[in-house]
Amino acid sequence: MTRSAEQSPVTAPHPLDFVSLGKIVQIRERLMTAQANGKAVFRFESGDPSFSPPAHVAEALVAATYAGKTHYIPNNGIPELRAALAEKARVKNGLTTVTSDDVFVTNGAMHALNVTFGALLMPGDEVIIPDPMWTEVAENIRLAGGVTIGVKLSAEEDFAYRAADIEAAITPKTTAIFINTPQNPTGALLSREELQAIYDVARRHNLWIVSDEAYEDLVFEPHQHVSIGSLAEANDHRVISIFSFSKSHAMSGLRTGYVITRAELLKDRLPKLLRCTINGVNSVAQWAALAAVTGSQASTAMMRNEYRVRRDIMIAALTGIPGVRPFTPKGTFFVWVELDPSVYDRLEVADADALSSSLAADGIGSAPGDAFGTFYPDAIRFSFSCDTTMVREGSIKLREALL
Ligand SMILES: Cc1ncc(COP(=O)(O)O)c(C=O)c1O
Repeated sequence: MTRSAEQSPVTAPHPLDFVSLGKIVQIRERLMTAQANGKAVFRFESGDPSFSPPAHVAEALVAATYAGKTHYIPNNGIPELRAALAEKARVKNGLTTVTSDDVFVTNGAMHALNVTFGALLMPGDEVIIPDPMWTEVAENIRLAGGVTIGVKLSAEEDFAYRAADIEAAITPKTTAIFINTPQNPTGALLSREELQAIYDVARRHNLWIVSDEAYEDLVFEPHQHVSIGSLAEANDHRVISIFSFSKSHAMSGLRTGYVITRAELLKDRLPKLLRCTINGVNSVAQWAALAAVTGSQASTAMMRNEYRVRRDIMIAALTGIPGVRPFTPKGTFFVWVELDPSVYDRLEVADADALSSSLAADGIGSAPGDAFGTFYPDAIRFSFSCDTTMVREGSIKLREALL
């Protein structure tokens, strides 16, 4: 901190001083600068879909703007959207008893995580999370005063998040179990049986479950997404489900997501946080989201098929390199790669961090393992969310760089 050199009054440490803007952001900025300077770059650090939203979504956004639907809207979301999302949750996710009153529209799943942990946690409360895990989950828990307890995902079992390991991590301070399926960064998917076992642990120990399902539509056949909320008993309101339009409908910049909860405690607290943080999500984005959820889902299927093509290109490029073990994702657009330390000697870098930096110098984006927790420093994540040509050309470069 360099505050002492400034003429500003606040000096005491603040929780925000312990939150990082993240290594991925630094690599992204480096690549974007190189791109702006005309250098060829391969945006394998990015988690942003290359696609545009479907036409009916763009049309709804424009129509809402021309119709003057640009004023303050209800804090928890426009009623039409909340009703449509409740219907979607009942039919598609099997959350059979959900009504519009249980739906809270947020500025993406990121904001959904922020308000959920903000509404749930008291200082010192522990939340069990998988390790590795997309960094912002831990940061949002810390922002709410919580403490993260990382459970190492089992590489031998395809990065399974095992109920037994979760149970072993429970202490008197544990408040919630966080799950993410399919998972960023590993692309692992929890089966119905694994989810049932986690749900049973949560019930036994009377814990909340926060279920981040931002990638629910990005699951590759024959695998299938299961919402843990569908396993909950009718009168059991411990599961809080989080969804997003960012990946499923390529609406990342429109910042629309939602929380579904039937718990009265949260239904009382969430509106207060929504009111004081955003006072309702951008009105025209909500009309666009309504079109996305009620209209044709053909573009979601098309994107999923194209992501599968990209996945296979990237996996093929990463296969057969000494000391490099790519994990074929069942969902998401990430390839998680375990690195044998012999790779560092061969490539003359100190560690995965240095490897990520050296790849960035070649215009290839990545995210090093230690950006996702503590248990997998010898790993690196590559994303195939950028367009297919970039994935194809970048994968050739990446293979050359790692050989
Ligand atoms: C696991 C996970 N959850 C939530 C999000 C947030 O998505 P958004 O805020 O765009 O809806 C992301 C974004 O990358 C993610 O990877």
